[in-house]
Amino acid sequence: MKPFVYVTRQVPDAIFERLAIKYDVEMWKEADKAVPREILLEKVSKADALLTVITDVVDEELFSRAGSLKVVANMAVGIDNIDLDAASRHGVSICNTPDVLTDTTADLTFTLLLATARRVIEAAEFVKDGKWTSWAPMMLVGTDVHHKKIGIVGMGKIGTAVAKRAAGFDMDILYHNRNRHEVAEEMLGAQYRSLDALLEEADFVICLAPLTDDTRGLFQREHFQKMKNEAIFINASRGPIINEQALIEALEAKEIAAAGLDVFDKEPLHAAHPFLTMKNVVALPHIGSASKETRMTMMMTCCENIEAVIDNRHPRTLVNK
Ligand code: DGY
Repeated sequence: MKPFVYVTRQVPDAIFERLAIKYDVEMWKEADKAVPREILLEKVSKADALLTVITDVVDEELFSRAGSLKVVANMAVGIDNIDLDAASRHGVSICNTPDVLTDTTADLTFTLLLATARRVIEAAEFVKDGKWTSWAPMMLVGTDVHHKKIGIVGMGKIGTAVAKRAAGFDMDILYHNRNRHEVAEEMLGAQYRSLDALLEEADFVICLAPLTDDTRGLFQREHFQKMKNEAIFINASRGPIINEQALIEALEAKEIAAAGLDVFDKEPLHAAHPFLTMKNVVALPHIGSASKETRMTMMMTCCENIEAVIDNRHPRTLVNK
């Protein structure tokens, strides 16, 4: 009998077919809907491998329903949807997809920064709505990005890739991280700051820290109050790092100027969410790594990891060593 692989989201034929060469494969086929929990729990009882996405909660309950589960290949660099300790207790290898999405996610983060600073979405809607009647000196003016100070909170691979882009815009680069990043300091002139100092100095505060017990709720009202009134806040990491209500209040009180957000506390964002009524908020549907090339590479990485674990080889991107 071939090993059974369950894929929790619809993936392109090329990915399904690659897995189907060696395995019995089943996939959740409703493109825009997450697999219901009870179906996932039923499938895991028969699965040797799961290919999961960030909306799947991979926890003790799921592992306790597993029969012969060996590997969970999560299609993301973030693994906050997975209980790693529970996985290790149950002897299940957890793999993610680091590196392959670094530049793509950095591109999107910088796009969000530019779009928010230069009011790109608002301006495009203005044209589409037929409101463009003439050129005017102060029509839809935004704020400059070049030669400003960027403050990156979470200087990992994506943070460093954003810093490289910022260097190309002649920005001063400040960062806050658990550890000093000597390479970024030497190569990009990045300067380490305490979180408070970074918030006080930066024109753009970019959150790229991973979601962990230490970073959950890291940004509270007092943090937004420390920022400049002209500052723009960008989050391309995980929603729960921010106290969303605090951010809404800070924007309403004009304590900061604008926010560009690719991630939210509860995704998808519901249609009546206050962010969607704010002109100075650019909200995107968690598309940091969403280029065709990168998404295909992420899925291929998941396939390779599944194959490695099932063949008793060391997977390339094992998380729970
Ligand atoms: C990740 O990789 O963690 C992203 O948020 C999903 O694309």
